[in-house]
Amino acid sequence: MPTNVRIAEKADVEGCAAIAGHTFRFDRFHADPEIDDDLADKLKVQWARNSVLGRADVVFVTYDQEKITGFNACLVCNDSVIIDLIGVAPEQQGRGLGRALTTAALAHYAGKATRMLVGTQSCNVASLALYQSMGFRIAASALTLHAHLP
Ligand SMILES: CC(C)(COP(=O)(O)OP(=O)(O)OC[C@H]1O[C@@H](n2cnc3c(N)ncnc32)[C@H](O)[C@@H]1OP(=O)(O)O)[C@@H](O)C(=O)NCCC(=O)NCCS
Repeated sequence: MPTNVRIAEKADVEGCAAIAGHTFRFDRFHADPEIDDDLADKLKVQWARNSVLGRADVVFVTYDQEKITGFNACLVCNDSVIIDLIGVAPEQQGRGLGRALTTAALAHYAGKATRMLVGTQSCNVASLALYQSMGFRIAASALTLHAHLP
């Protein structure tokens, strides 16, 4: 477990939510011109809150003194671990925190699960670089199309 990572407690809920509110840009909600970015941000905020309050098996957080700087919410499904939602505060990106959060999850689940999965977008260069530099390989790809009905 990297030294700058710990497991989140319920008191970290708003710290994680604050990051989720201004970090995600490539997901299907933010990519959809018919969904307002504020609404997409709110969805991520609630997702982060739910993760800390029980949706996730474990949420790992990086911190700087009292402040949460990043989080990685993991789910367990049978013998697999899924990185469900991971985000580093924009002003803290590129400093190794995403790597530390992923390393923490790999260390925590070593011997408890057989594989770790994560879904991301092909245009999310940062996440692809992070995962592939840590040994993740593309297992499947999918193209999703949708239309809004009136
Ligand atoms: C993806 C994310 C978590 C990575 O966190 P981070 O703290 O910025 O990443 P790190 O500093 O630990 O970098 C890890 C590796 O990825 C590379 N990387 C990070 N950002 C990059 C970018 N924008 N372009 C290219 N490579 C990048 C780094 O170079 C590093 O590799 P290296 O050590 O070989 O140089 C972060 O960019 C983020 O929060 N993005 C917004 C939310 C998001 O899209 N989440 C992912 C959903 S799957």
